[in-house]
Amino acid sequence: MGAVIAPSILSADFARLGAEIKDVEAGGAALIHVDVMDGHFVPNITIGPAVTRAVRRVTQLPVDCHLMIEEPDRYLAAFVEAGADMISVHVEVVHHLERTVAAIKELGAKAGVVLTPATPLETLSEILPVADFVLLMSVNPGFGGQTLIPSVLDKGKRLRAWIDRLGLATRIEIDGGVTLQNIDEVAAVGVDMIVAGSAIFGAGDPRGATAALVKKLAAIAEQGNRV
Ligand code: DX5
Ligand code: ZN
Repeated sequence: MGAVIAPSILSADFARLGAEIKDVEAGGAALIHVDVMDGHFVPNITIGPAVTRAVRRVTQLPVDCHLMIEEPDRYLAAFVEAGADMISVHVEVVHHLERTVAAIKELGAKAGVVLTPATPLETLSEILPVADFVLLMSVNPGFGGQTLIPSVLDKGKRLRAWIDRLGLATRIEIDGGVTLQNIDEVAAVGVDMIVAGSAIFGAGDPRGATAALVKKLAAIAEQGNRV
C-alpha cells in the first residue's frame, strides 16, 4: 500500500475554506492536515479549535491536527472536542511525552509525535511502540512554502527500517516542502502519509494539484509492485 496525501490547509484561502476542502476531497485527499501555531514554539500564529470545528463540519475525512504549540496538554481535549481524529505533539516541547500520548489516546484520537529536522530519531526510542504515528518535519516548522531539507529523507529511511525491524504498526507522516517534483523521493522513503500545503493550494487548482500528487503516488506504488 502506497502513501496517501494529506493537504495542509495552512496555504488554503481561509475565506473559502469549505470549498477548498471539498476540492481536495474530490482530488483524492485522504486526510485534512491542520497546522496549529501559537507564536511561541513557532513564530507564526494560525488555527485553533474554532476553525478545526469548522473543518470538521465540512468533511468526513480524518482531521489531523499538528500542534506546533507550547503546553499542548492544555488544549488536547479542546481539539478532540472540535473534531480532531489525529493529534500530534512536538517532542521538543513536551516534558512528559508518555503522559501526553496516553492522554491523546484516552480522548479517543490517534496520537502522533513530531520531530523537527534537527531532532534525532533516537529521542523516539521509548515512545515509538506507544505512538500511533511519527511525523517527521522536512522543514523547520512555522511557515508553508519552504524547501524540503534533504537530510530528512535518510532520517525517514532509518525510521522505516526501525519500525519494520520492531514489527510495529506505527505510521510515518512527512511534512514540509513536498512538491510534484520531489514526491517520488519522499515516497521512496516508505512513508505512509505525505503532507502538502503550497503544492496543493498555491496554484489556484487544489483539486487538480491533489489529483496530480495522488496519481504520481499511484504510479510509484505500481512501479514498486512490478519490481
Ligand atoms: C509547517 C507546517 C506544514 C506546512 C506544509 O510548519 O507544519 O504542514 O504548512 O506546507 P508546505 O507543503 O507548503 O511546505
Ligand atoms: Zn504540519
